[in-house]
Amino acid sequence: MSRRKKIYEGKAKILYEGPEPGTLVQYFKDDATAFNNKKKATLEGKGVLNNRISEFIMLNLGRVGVPTHFIRRLNMREQLVREVEIIPLEVICRNVAAGSISQRLGIPEGDALPRSIVEFCYKNDSLNDPLVAEEHITAFNWASTQEIDDIISLTLRVNDFLSGMFAAVGIRLIDFKLEFGRLYEGDMVRTVLADEISPDSCRLWDIETNEKMDKDRFRRDLGNVTEAYAEVARRLGIMKEAPRAANDEAWK
Ligand SMILES: Nc1ncnc2c1ncn2[C@@H]1O[C@H](COP(=O)(O)OP(=O)(O)O)[C@@H](O)[C@H]1O
Ligand SMILES: [Mg+2]
Repeated sequence: MSRRKKIYEGKAKILYEGPEPGTLVQYFKDDATAFNNKKKATLEGKGVLNNRISEFIMLNLGRVGVPTHFIRRLNMREQLVREVEIIPLEVICRNVAAGSISQRLGIPEGDALPRSIVEFCYKNDSLNDPLVAEEHITAFNWASTQEIDDIISLTLRVNDFLSGMFAAVGIRLIDFKLEFGRLYEGDMVRTVLADEISPDSCRLWDIETNEKMDKDRFRRDLGNVTEAYAEVARRLGIMKEAPRAANDEAWK
């Protein structure tokens, strides 16, 4: 990993140059941030869990025909992905009110929404990832109308797949965030799912108890953050049993 050229270091991951042109290595750190970097911590084992959970989800989405950047997992903390040109949007899909939609619109947290809602935020940390309309996206050329259509239909397919997958293991998918990129293949461009899908980017509540099993445990100081992530992995059948500490040792 240290041999590779670092391309970008973000809040939760590092991107390195991949072994072949057009590939990248995505390294999952243990760093957790919230409220636009105002709150920070290191959660031992989080990167290992997110690498495995995201691998599992991307692989299964690929099997049902959703194009993704994922190629293969390399080790505990790294995965090989196709390099894409990231579309600068955070695409949020909501099934149940929580977080910013509850604050903005005064909808009590936990209320089921009348239908799934897809929202767009402009991916820009210095502006706090503001909510934007399709008008802004096309006017400022962040994405074309065709790309927006593709993004919405892919997001709804991901929502259907993930909602069922999580419900089957006793977890309610409240909402999640996706990133998409442009994959250039010769003179063709395809919109593919990129980045990660993990408890860092989803709200997941236990179906029976409503207990939070996602990054809100960190945002709201609820404790047992990695334990909750490990429980998500265990229920998905990724780990045979949930080790007490989801550290790298436990995965060897
Ligand atoms: N396949 C890919 N090709 C290029 N960039 C990607 C790909 N997948 C994810 N990224 C980008 O890599 C970064 C991942 O690191 P992360 O720590 O999440 O960064 P950030 O702090 O910007 O959210 C993100 O900026 C994401 O948009
Ligand atoms: Mg990120």
